Amino acid sequence: MEICHTLSQMDDVRRGAGSRGQSVALAPTMGALHEGHFSLIRAAKDLADFVVVSIFVNPTQFGPGEDLEAYPRMPEQDLDACRRLGVDAVFMPSAPEMYPREPATRIELPSMADKLCGASRPGHFAGVCLVVAKLLNIVRPDVAVFGQKDYQQVTILRRMVEDLNMPHRIHTCPTVREADGLALSSRNAYLTDQQRRQASGLYAALRSTADLIGAEHPPAREAAEHLRREINRRVPDGRIDYARVVDPETLVEAEDTRGPVVLALAVHLGKARLIDNLRVD
Ligand code: PAF
Repeated sequence: MEICHTLSQMDDVRRGAGSRGQSVALAPTMGALHEGHFSLIRAAKDLADFVVVSIFVNPTQFGPGEDLEAYPRMPEQDLDACRRLGVDAVFMPSAPEMYPREPATRIELPSMADKLCGASRPGHFAGVCLVVAKLLNIVRPDVAVFGQKDYQQVTILRRMVEDLNMPHRIHTCPTVREADGLALSSRNAYLTDQQRRQASGLYAALRSTADLIGAEHPPAREAAEHLRREINRRVPDGRIDYARVVDPETLVEAEDTRGPVVLALAVHLGKARLIDNLRVD
């Protein structure tokens, strides 16, 4: 497995794969790899001949007072996992390598990025778009894989790639869950035992709302109220940031639930801010 710390090392490795006629898949991550990331890597291996995993805790997507410093970092463990999974190359640049000077460019999709997570994390998706655009330009993959758990992120990135005629395919992998339904996330590590037990209530609340929609097709506003009630009942120590029923493509609040919708939530629980979603067709 190649380990690239610099852009020029990554470029050599990418050229090597190209000269061998290999297709390339990229799984962008911020490290602290868990089963959710492993599923992205396995999908990448199915989609292309040569798999690159990037590990970079991207400072431009963290706001002031967020957990940039506390974000879990375990590079040796991550590299072992990548070796075990048969990854071909890991790109793990330093912050100065990625941002040698303050970036003057912004990529913004305000109509999609200012709502849901973007409303409470201003600038977050501009940071995500910037780093993902840079990673796509550096690694030049045929396909990049992202998790459905970050539904707003992957929806925005798909649109960025389309709007900017970027030549990469975006592949979305299903959310990986614990046995009790909690979506895997590096931030689950912040939960105490009691919070961890309650956290499974988030998926139960999503499922209960999906069942209601399946049975009664209520107006989206009523479905969203049901979702909020279920979260408050099942996760009493949680504080809802948002719990909405939105259009799967535009992320605008849906009106009815007869067509496809996405149930999306973010809840503060102790030190963690947990997100999850469920698409209901
Ligand atoms: O989903 C993540 O881990 C990050 O937002 C990403 C896509 C790696 C960009 O830093």
